[in-house]
Parts: sequence; structure tokens; C-alpha cells
Amino acid sequence: MSAADTSGDTAPIRRVGVVGAGVMGSGIAQWLAARGCDVVLRDVQPTALERGVAVMQGLFAEAVRRGKLSGPEADAGLRRIVTTSTWAGFEDCDLVIEAIVEDVAVKRDVFAAIAAVVPPTTLLASNTSALPIEEFAGSVTAPGRVLGLHFFNPVSRMPLVELVVTAQTSAAVQARAQTFIRAIGKQPVVCRSSPGFLVTRVLFFYLNAAVRLWEQGMPAAVIDGALREFGWPMGPLRLIDEVGVDVTDFIFGELAHYFPERFVRSKACGRLLATGMRGRKNGSSRGFYRYEGGAETLNETETRSLVTAGSGSAPAAGMSPADVSAFLMRVMVDEARRCCAEGVVASADDVDLAMRIGAGFPVARGGLLAWAESQA
Ligand code: NAI
Repeated sequence: MSAADTSGDTAPIRRVGVVGAGVMGSGIAQWLAARGCDVVLRDVQPTALERGVAVMQGLFAEAVRRGKLSGPEADAGLRRIVTTSTWAGFEDCDLVIEAIVEDVAVKRDVFAAIAAVVPPTTLLASNTSALPIEEFAGSVTAPGRVLGLHFFNPVSRMPLVELVVTAQTSAAVQARAQTFIRAIGKQPVVCRSSPGFLVTRVLFFYLNAAVRLWEQGMPAAVIDGALREFGWPMGPLRLIDEVGVDVTDFIFGELAHYFPERFVRSKACGRLLATGMRGRKNGSSRGFYRYEGGAETLNETETRSLVTAGSGSAPAAGMSPADVSAFLMRVMVDEARRCCAEGVVASADDVDLAMRIGAGFPVARGGLLAWAESQA
């Protein structure tokens, strides 16, 4: 085995470096430490590290409250995490997961920096939600060890991890990562590297179509009510508030960039953001809904004033709630079928599993594509 060849390495992954101590990095670090991994968590911002430690303490306390860990187990888990603003401690990691800002150029630099401090056998993963892994895999030696490990937010509650492989990711690295994901109690679904992989792509095509219907004048109450009636735990506009209007708008931008011929980007999220409405997260309490005094109410009057009614070409006029749900589910199904046809995932079963545990597709309907087949 040459120094740059990881094909024979099947050792369990015990020590993990996490780069970026934001929402995802701190969630991933805590999850791994709770399952016995030693973790070194790096951020360039001291305040981000402080916030990350507070978040991880809170997650351990919550795990104890929910009976998932005993007090001593939580204490031991927290002690397994070391934070740093340097690369100290990365040199003997089995795996490094990058969870920094979603920017290709910055990720490329960080991948090169990680590769310079770890051995050539260390697996290098990105938690990017939409960027093709090849965009930064080229900056490292031994690209066969580069992959995506796409955890979902919040890490402590979402069982899915998309295991994203490029044409160069070795079969042994894929197998090792798959074993690791199962060992930490998550469910892997293998995706071929491509923009948005599976869940982000399918879900955000659907969310964008919902916003375009709303821009056409369809009331938020009708859109969200129709999809709740279908069985979704929440409607698409309410989901955008939950994900964050900022994150959503950013991903809309990424999909518009990668699918310029098919993704007609809605404008409303950008307008909401410009007036400080970021949804339910990030300390904001307004988006398509208002969250005040423990209650949720539609924010239709305020949000409508930001868009020009009738913009775009979505066919909203005259649609009944049943038409709305049929239309939006069709967008989702079409995109999922494209993912299958392009080989982004190996099977319709993978789509159905990932959409159920990664996006909340209603269990009572079976799976997204199984349901679609039953309608044919
Ligand atoms: P965030 O903005 O909360 O955290 C990013 C952190 O990276 C910040 O603390 C920042 O100081 C740090 N950082 C930036 N450059 C760095 C560098 N060179 N070295 C070390 N730290 C650096 O971002 P978030 O939301 O945690 O997202 C991280 C990644 O995870 C992104 O690629 C995002 O697309 C992806 N993701 C986000 C999800 C979400 O719901 N927020 C869900 C799944 C994936």
C-alpha cells in the first residue's frame, strides 16, 4: 500500500476532527463524542468556539433529561471534546469533517490546509448541503479519501446522513464511512456527488415552487394547509421559517446556479431577508409566520407588501387546495425521478428512505416514489 493509498485501511474511526463550530459543527462534534469518539473541534472565531461549547453542553444536558445518557456518560462525552483555533490535535485524526461556511473557494483552501496536517490515510469529508464534492476534492493529495458526510439539522434528532461519493472516492473509503455512520447510530444513504445530492435538491425544488405559487397570490394558509392535509408535519412555507429564510434563500441561489435551465428562483425569501425576516431561527421571530408570545400566526399582511402580486409564471390562478398539493408533490416526484435516472442514488427505495427520515415525508404514505407509483 503506498502512502497515498487508503484502499486497504478498514480500521474503525475513533478520532475525528471537526472544522467549524457553528450550528452543524458543534452538533456533529457533540453527537460523535456522545458515541465514544474523541473529537477535536476547530474554529477561527474564538466566540464561535465559546458558543459551540455552550451548545454542546446544552445538548448533553438535554440527552440526560431525555434519558439517552446518564450524567457521568454525558460528562465523559464532553471531556472527549477538545476545542482549538489551531491545527493541534488534527495530526492523528482518522477522519476530518469540514463544516464551515458554504463557500467553494473557502472550502477549497480549508481542504488543502487539512490535507497538509493529516496523514494521507485520514478520510476527508465535507458537510456541505449542496456543493459537489469535486469542487474542492481537487485541492488535496489522495482524492480517493474525499467524500461528503451530509448530516441534517438538528444533528441530535435527524437520523439521516447522506454519504456522498465522487468518481474518485475509493470503494474502501465508502465502506469504511458506511460502517462509521452506522456505528454512530445514523442511517447512511449513498449519493453520487452532484449539486444538492438527493434531499436538498428534491426538497428545495419543492420549496421554491411553493414560494412561486405564493408569489402568484396563493394564500400561505392554503399552500401550507394543503400540504398538511397531504400528511406533511408542516407546510412548505412554515418549513422555510424552520430551516431559516437565510439558509433557504442561499440554497435557492445554489440550485439556480447549478440548474439554470430548470430552477426559476423565487424572489420572496430574498425580500424577507432584506427586511430582517429570517424565519423562526437565528434569534428572529418573523418570516412567513410570526412567532410571538409562544404563538404562531401567519404574517401574510407584512410579507405580501414585499412582493408584486402576479410576478412569475406559476399556474396559481384557480387552483383548489387539492390542486396545490398535487402540483407541489409533482415537482418533488419529478425531481426525485430525475435523481434516480441520473444515478444520484441507486434506487427508488433509497429516495423513499431518505425523504422519510431526512425531509419528513409522511410515513403513512409509504415512500415518495412508492406513493407516486400508486397514483399512476
Ligand atoms: P455556521 O455559519 O453556523 O458555522 C460555520 C462556522 O465555520 C462559523 O463558526 C465560522 O467561524 C467557521 N469558519 C469559517 N471559516 C473557517 C475556517 N477557515 N476554519 C475554521 N472555522 C471556520 O454554518 P452551519 O450552518 O453550521 O453550516 C456549515 C456547513 O454545513 C455549510 O456547508 C452548510 O451548507 C452545511 N449544512 C448546514 C445545515 C444547516 O441547517 N445549517 C444543514 C446541513 C448542512
